[in-house]
Amino acid sequence: MSKVLITGAAGTLGQALIPVIAGAGYHLELVDIQPIESEYEFHQIDILDADALSPVMEGVDFVVHAAGLHGIHLSTRSPREFYSINLTGTFNVWEASAQAGIKGFVFCSSVSVYGESRRPPREDAVVALSENMPLLPSDIYGLTKFLGEEMSRYYVRRYGVPAVALRLGMFTPEPFFRHGIRLLYGGVDPRDVAQAVLKSIQAMEAGKIRWEVLNIASEVPFTKEDGPQLRKNPLPVLDKYYKDAVNLLKERGVERLYPIHEFIPISKAEEKLGFRPEYNFSWWLQELEQHPDYRTPKNPPWP
Ligand SMILES: NC(=O)c1ccc[n+]([C@@H]2O[C@H](COP(=O)([O-])OP(=O)(O)OC[C@H]3O[C@@H](n4cnc5c(N)ncnc54)[C@H](O)[C@@H]3O)[C@@H](O)[C@H]2O)c1
Repeated sequence: MSKVLITGAAGTLGQALIPVIAGAGYHLELVDIQPIESEYEFHQIDILDADALSPVMEGVDFVVHAAGLHGIHLSTRSPREFYSINLTGTFNVWEASAQAGIKGFVFCSSVSVYGESRRPPREDAVVALSENMPLLPSDIYGLTKFLGEEMSRYYVRRYGVPAVALRLGMFTPEPFFRHGIRLLYGGVDPRDVAQAVLKSIQAMEAGKIRWEVLNIASEVPFTKEDGPQLRKNPLPVLDKYYKDAVNLLKERGVERLYPIHEFIPISKAEEKLGFRPEYNFSWWLQELEQHPDYRTPKNPPWP
């Protein structure tokens, strides 16, 4: 059975990935700068330490590179730290991977690569952030992910290592209400992200993918035609697509929602990987219904 190495194994995605990748029958090797208790082989390594990375790549077939800084670190970490960990770190992981002759690489990118493209062109428009939108990162995080994708593309070209860059929506753990509402605003459940990673590995293993860039977010039913209403008041749009959603939300204290400016199409991930997220807003509504005591602490509940 193939061996998968996960960097950033102690993080949100790493922890969601471990049971999914192991459950699919892969051997695991884990890397993080923070210590973790694990039944799998674990290496406490800083990805900035290139010499430490090379030996652990021996015998590895697939690398999932999830270590790094992201949006929540923008207020606490410097641009130089972002550049160093997200770019020099990614370069070290890629170099060690290419030298070890791995069979596939999953790069955890982000929808932050779209940057300025996320700004709607008109007051009554929503942006569909499809993968072919111009990449115009507007902060150091987005810039490092954009350059990380470009770096991955280089390794595919130069060394012929298959790779997938997943442009992930927001999945940092949040309280129940915030998480559910976030699923309408570019969020995604980490369990669905883990499935997307697994399917990427399986597609590369089956020789179906050489290089792909794919959005991964929760599934929303919105279209550009919903733009004017989504910008004014999203509730009637929710009622159109989710039966009795607005009554349920109102019962639990949600009287209004902030305007929705964008949505993230995921049809390319479905086409290339067969990826369909399970923990969407409709799943969250069912959870809400089943817990009569759940009420929003805040109206609107997000942001
Ligand atoms: N969380 C999100 O909403 C989100 C959204 C889009 C993309 N992403 C990307 O997905 C990946 C995983 O995100 P996450 O939410 O699991 O992040 P996380 O912060 O929960 O985990 C990242 C892990 O990387 C480790 N790490 C940081 N610097 C390291 C270093 N120098 N050497 C070794 N390990 C190091 C940390 O210790 C941490 O365990 C990241 O690359 C992130 O940019 C995350």
